[in-house]
Amino acid sequence: EGQRHRRMKEAHQIAAEYYHHMLLHTEDGEEALQYLEDRGFSQTLIEDYQIGYALPTWDGLTNLLTARGFDLAEVAESGLLIQREQDGSCFDRFRGRIMFPIRDESGKTIAFSGRIIEASTSEAKYMNSPESPIFHKSQVFFNLDKARASIRKQHKAIIMEGFIDVLAAVRAGIPNVIATMGTALTPQHVTKLKRLVEQVIICYDGDGAGWEAAKRAGELLQQSRIKAEVAVLPEKLDPDDYVKQHGATSFKEDIIDKPHTYIAFVKMHARRGKNFQFDNDKMQYVQEVVDLLVHNTSPLERDLYIRQLADETNLSEEAILATLRQKESDEAQRSKRQQQKEQFTPVVVTHQ
Ligand code: UTP
Ligand code: MN
Ligand code: MN
Ligand code: MN
Ligand code: MN
Repeated sequence: EGQRHRRMKEAHQIAAEYYHHMLLHTEDGEEALQYLEDRGFSQTLIEDYQIGYALPTWDGLTNLLTARGFDLAEVAESGLLIQREQDGSCFDRFRGRIMFPIRDESGKTIAFSGRIIEASTSEAKYMNSPESPIFHKSQVFFNLDKARASIRKQHKAIIMEGFIDVLAAVRAGIPNVIATMGTALTPQHVTKLKRLVEQVIICYDGDGAGWEAAKRAGELLQQSRIKAEVAVLPEKLDPDDYVKQHGATSFKEDIIDKPHTYIAFVKMHARRGKNFQFDNDKMQYVQEVVDLLVHNTSPLERDLYIRQLADETNLSEEAILATLRQKESDEAQRSKRQQQKEQFTPVVVTHQ
């Protein structure tokens, strides 16, 4: 098993070098290189992250790995190649894409994400390696190998939606930044973070999907007692767009260094699209925010947000506090019933 993983990682290492060479030193790679330059990638960044280009051919990597004596079926299982069902032969999975190596915590390449150059309606913008014996999406953070030291030092990690955003942040001089690989933050991700930091800043895209994802990620972090804050971007911009439009300094000073508390963010989110002229909207808003206050809030936070809610809605602090108490006692009842149920579950002893 250890040998198998080692060989799979070795194939990835060779693939990364191969793609990187194609990007920098071939005519076929020129369009891709131009694209990266237009998006602000420096030579240094391309080198540091070993960014590459996969030719649009079907067998470039397949031939290389064959020549190096790899078992192609095993390489296919690692995600780099695809094996044909008919005759068991293999072909390159990634073709005509800009290649971003995804590394594990020790800096070994375990997967790739490939971006198409031209916008296309028929093909996905990014193609990621499939789940494999060496690549478990629900656990991997892009850039954790390089970011770990500064995350430790600053006691703080910044998490983004896209690895392109991470690279934009790194370029802007922010080192402690990571991203999940096209999946939402999972409990496994959080377990990993928990060993590293006590505070996380979520900086997701400024769109509906980003807000939803930030809300869920924050909830998950708070449940594990990691302090979550949200750096909010203007609508329609992601971190990469923001740096491009407003510059690195503004990104750092106005966005990253001015995160909202998780509760303030969720309040903003809950308020969007609601009209307080309507009683229902108003009450629903209060309910949503109170739900949040029931869990994981200090007395100070409660006081602060109850006052704010009262101001915003013109409802009395007493009524809001009563709503909160009601929810708390509902929850307490529910967990008590749950405990009783568990206590009275008979223990079955089997004799062997
Ligand atoms: P986005 O759609 O926000 O892409 O997806 P982006 O990071 O802004 O990329 P650019 O600027 O258009 O190049 C965020 C993340 O979702 C995953 C990728 O991991 C990406 O980094 N994703 C997105 C996919 O896996 N496949 C896709 O087709 C699109
Ligand atoms: Mn494994
Ligand atoms: Mn997005
Ligand atoms: Mn984006
Ligand atoms: Mn983008």
